[in-house]
Amino acid sequence: MQVVISVADHSHEKYAVTICNMIEEAAQLRGTGISKRKPEYIQTKIIEGKAVIALEGEKVVGFCYIESWDNAKFVANSGLIVHPDYRQTGLAKKIKTAIFELSRKKFPDAKIFGITTSLAVMKINSELGYKPVTFSELTTDEKFWKGCESCTNYDILMRTDRKMCLCTGMVCIPQNNTKQDEKPKSSQSWEQFKKFLSQQKKVFLPKGILYPKINKILKK
Ligand SMILES: CC(C)(COP(=O)(O)OP(=O)(O)OC[C@H]1O[C@@H](n2cnc3c(N)ncnc32)[C@H](O)[C@@H]1OP(=O)(O)O)[C@@H](O)C(=O)NCCC(=O)NCCS
Repeated sequence: MQVVISVADHSHEKYAVTICNMIEEAAQLRGTGISKRKPEYIQTKIIEGKAVIALEGEKVVGFCYIESWDNAKFVANSGLIVHPDYRQTGLAKKIKTAIFELSRKKFPDAKIFGITTSLAVMKINSELGYKPVTFSELTTDEKFWKGCESCTNYDILMRTDRKMCLCTGMVCIPQNNTKQDEKPKSSQSWEQFKKFLSQQKKVFLPKGILYPKINKILKK
């Protein structure tokens, strides 16, 4: 059966509990980096038309939703999840592209940002035109950072006065995406991302020690 990706609507409310369970299981397995959400919150996102869902028949296989911060100056595409049996097939990339386009439509002037420890997400974000930044470039909205409380690494974020953590911050500013043909090719954007990391060694060095994935990225 074919996987269909669409903007979620009322008919998808029934999947909220399954989606929360998928997110929770992934968070436990990774032990880091995914904010827990209640089904009511996911339902609200669905009703507001701020979510993208991937379905294979009646089976939910992927999801992502939009959150806005700082009076919608910043927008995040959060809660990205792909069912374990459907990973490494390009599904996350399709979902992220769909939620990115929906974000641009709903919030054309917002900076789209994310924080992640996931190499897959860093790759997808780079291809969409996100650039890696220090946390000082991200929203200062307390409500966003409160979402980190359920992460096992929250103590690190607090210890560094919210300046850095194991996640890498990435931002896409609106003018980067006005013309599709001006976007760097995916291979170029990934190379640019790695170049940025090596140039910013001073900033990222502590992360490299704490989180060897940064070193892994630089070697790739
Ligand atoms: C992260 C996640 C969404 C990726 O989903 P996916 O459908 O497997 O990703 P895709 O197949 O679209 O892969 C996108 C790119 O990332 C790469 N990739 C996928 N999984 C990877 C992994 N575990 N490690 C390194 N790279 C990976 C792919 O090779 C692909 O790269 P390419 O463009 O060079 O070919 C999925 O693993 C997941 O749901 N994980 C648990 C939840 C999670 O971590 N969410 C992110 C929170 S920020």
